[in-house]
Amino acid sequence: MSQDSAAKNASVTIRDNTTGKEATFPILTGTEGPPVIDIRRLYAETGYFTYDPGFVATGSCESAITYIDGDNGVLLHRGYPIEQLAENSDFLEVCYLLLNGELPTPAEKTEFDYRITHHTMLHEQLSYFYRGFRRDAHPMAIMCGVVGALSAFYHDSLDISDPRQRMIASHRMIAKMPTIAGWAYKYSQGQPFIYPQNNLGFAENFLRMLFATPCEDYEINPVIAKTMDRILILHADHEQNASTSTVRLAGSSGANPFACISAGIASLWGPAHGGANEAVLNMLSQIGHTKNIPEFVEKAKDKDDPFLLMGFGHRVYKNFDPRTKIMRETCHSVLKELGIKDEPLLDLAMELERIALEDEYFIERKLYPNVDFYSGIIFQALGIPTSMFTVLFAVARTVGWIAQWNEMVEDPNQKIGRPRQLYTGAAKREYIPVSKR
Ligand code: CMC
Repeated sequence: MSQDSAAKNASVTIRDNTTGKEATFPILTGTEGPPVIDIRRLYAETGYFTYDPGFVATGSCESAITYIDGDNGVLLHRGYPIEQLAENSDFLEVCYLLLNGELPTPAEKTEFDYRITHHTMLHEQLSYFYRGFRRDAHPMAIMCGVVGALSAFYHDSLDISDPRQRMIASHRMIAKMPTIAGWAYKYSQGQPFIYPQNNLGFAENFLRMLFATPCEDYEINPVIAKTMDRILILHADHEQNASTSTVRLAGSSGANPFACISAGIASLWGPAHGGANEAVLNMLSQIGHTKNIPEFVEKAKDKDDPFLLMGFGHRVYKNFDPRTKIMRETCHSVLKELGIKDEPLLDLAMELERIALEDEYFIERKLYPNVDFYSGIIFQALGIPTSMFTVLFAVARTVGWIAQWNEMVEDPNQKIGRPRQLYTGAAKREYIPVSKR
């Protein structure tokens, strides 16, 4: 393979050693990040496919929403560093930014907040769906079902070629997720559903729908509301991760956006992805005491043991996850502000992080704590039950999914997602009737 160094007309030429044939492919450069080889004509010109399980070296789309530099721990949304957004912005402003590409003016911000606030109610009939689930159903199972069911309620969002209908569907999706999530929790507790209130902010409303009851309103603690808002910002989007790629793939066939988001929720649920925050807390409880850490670290290194250190490692971040830094600081400050002095799980987590980061196995493989490592401890301090951790992630990531879905629908290069394969099954053979086998 040879690479033309002239940046403007850069290309890669592939020579097939068996036939001597050559084909040249352009190299495309974005605003940030490594260049990509445009292999769209690879099969037509060479008869070869590429083989890349897990898409380790494959760019599946062009995107202008989020950029990650995994070697330097950088995360930008529409160009703005996550640290600046977490410090200075609020979740709905970040939603506006992700959806529209620019920060809103004061008037645009007021209008956007109003729109989202006034889409938070669910169609009353949707409340009956919950009763079909067992009381002990995992809230993520309920989320997949109820969000998918939204597609049966909003027929007008079926014309996905209309940008206005797409934007209304996007606002509905962002606005209704906290209500759907709050009700999933209420159902598991056997408590009545709490309806949204328009005088409350996004995070406040969500907390109230989780914790208020008809006999006792929830007194909003501004520290908790601010922390929740920041956690939502930190999870809002993350480029082409598994759940976002799932939403794009599902949507590439022209499917209803609510059904596509439901597919994204299913993908997020897995412990290698968003389910890791719940798994981290379960793991810390299992470890139980700092004296047991070395034993669990050894288990994580043992290739014959399926145990992994949950909340460690990332496909893209090979230095540190910038969200973890903010999450760790937030964790300390929220515990302090809430007056929680002794948090054994936090001590355990910090000691585990220290031991793992000094261990050759983790250093060699560049395995650092990811966003899920500390988020569970914060959620616990906020009084959120463990089974709801991944649901919170889904509420936050909805804006990322829907922004990426919109971008995909608008992309002139968009095609139905249809990967190929390296077939290793039986070669063509003749059918033998059962009597002759
Ligand atoms: N504990 C122990 N070993 C690990 C871990 C871990 N958490 N993660 C990766 N490794 C090892 C892995 O066994 C492999 O070793 P070797 O090279 O000897 O075969 C090496 O590190 C490279 O890992 P990989 O599995 O090839 O990396 P990947 O990019 O395919 O997977 C990951 C990334 C996040 C799925 C994985 O690190 C993992 O399962 N971590 C635990 C789950 C977790 O915390 N997930 C949250 C991810 S961040 C937020 C999100 O996406 O929602």
